[in-house]
Amino acid sequence: MTSDYVDLLNEAVARELQVSIQYMLQHTKMEKLIRKVIPENILLDKTTYEAVGKFLKEISIQEMKHAAAIMERIYYLGGQATTKSKKPVVGGSLSEFAKLGVEAEEEALILYRRIIDESRKVGDYESHELFEKIYGEEEGHLFKFQEYVKVRDESEGDSGETSEWRKIYTEDYFALLNKAVASEISAIVQYTNQHEKAALLSLRMKETPLEVITEKNKTKAISDLLKGIFMQEMEHLEKISERIYLLEGEATVNPEPLPKVGDTADDFLRLDHKAENDAIVLYRKIIEEAMKRGDTLTRRMFEDIVIQEEGHYWKFDDYLR
Ligand SMILES: [Fe+2]
Ligand SMILES: [Fe+2]
Ligand SMILES: [Fe+2]
Ligand SMILES: [Fe+2]
Repeated sequence: MTSDYVDLLNEAVARELQVSIQYMLQHTKMEKLIRKVIPENILLDKTTYEAVGKFLKEISIQEMKHAAAIMERIYYLGGQATTKSKKPVVGGSLSEFAKLGVEAEEEALILYRRIIDESRKVGDYESHELFEKIYGEEEGHLFKFQEYVKVRDESEGDSGETSEWRKIYTEDYFALLNKAVASEISAIVQYTNQHEKAALLSLRMKETPLEVITEKNKTKAISDLLKGIFMQEMEHLEKISERIYLLEGEATVNPEPLPKVGDTADDFLRLDHKAENDAIVLYRKIIEEAMKRGDTLTRRMFEDIVIQEEGHYWKFDDYLR
């Protein structure tokens, strides 16, 4: 396979990562929009908003699965799957979400037509089949978003004044909470990528010497482990960003630190162990800050999350020795 071809597949990965994060953040922003818009509108709107909120989350997860499936192909072809996402754009109203969704899905269809074509030309029939399947799903997404482009919702526009109880939610506080969002995005991309790479590594390992068999089992186990943890990080992202939107902040769309993949299963473990360690340290700081400001709900949310991050830390720790 040429590196141009792998680059083309990585373009697909970058946009799958983009829309997955984009739709998840729109899903969590929806809760806030519902509260803002509904009082002025009829009940029918509530149903619309709830329906869109629900399918945004479903599509977000489906897009991350697309990203993973394409990464898997790239590793099989001997390439390196990217961790760089195209920049997600969230928007501020339901009709804007829909418009951005239509744009993103149209872009996907155009790119994937090219990939379907190219993969056939180079004889990569597995990818050909994969992209035909994904293409059908993207088309479904496009139609779904098209239904909502014309929804009238002027949900933007704040009263401007900050009421007393909200004074604890300052810019620097949102910046701190956004470090958590950024770290969750980073973990999601890192673990998804490593999960696919580990799956390939375990397949490639020879089965003969006893030692190698153990290594192989370990790599397989790590691949499975990453999949489970990745889903929890997705839930963390959902909870934290929803909280930020409810408090009328804006969630970041950029990972920080940048996701790192590594070359071997032991690299993965070291990197992930470090990522969990850093998350725990950061979340303890957030808990302390939330406590100082009297932001009880955020504090309790992070107390729950940090328990899970500790669980992840120890799981990676188990395999490290
Ligand atoms: Fe997709
Ligand atoms: Fe899509
Ligand atoms: Fe997390
Ligand atoms: Fe974690």
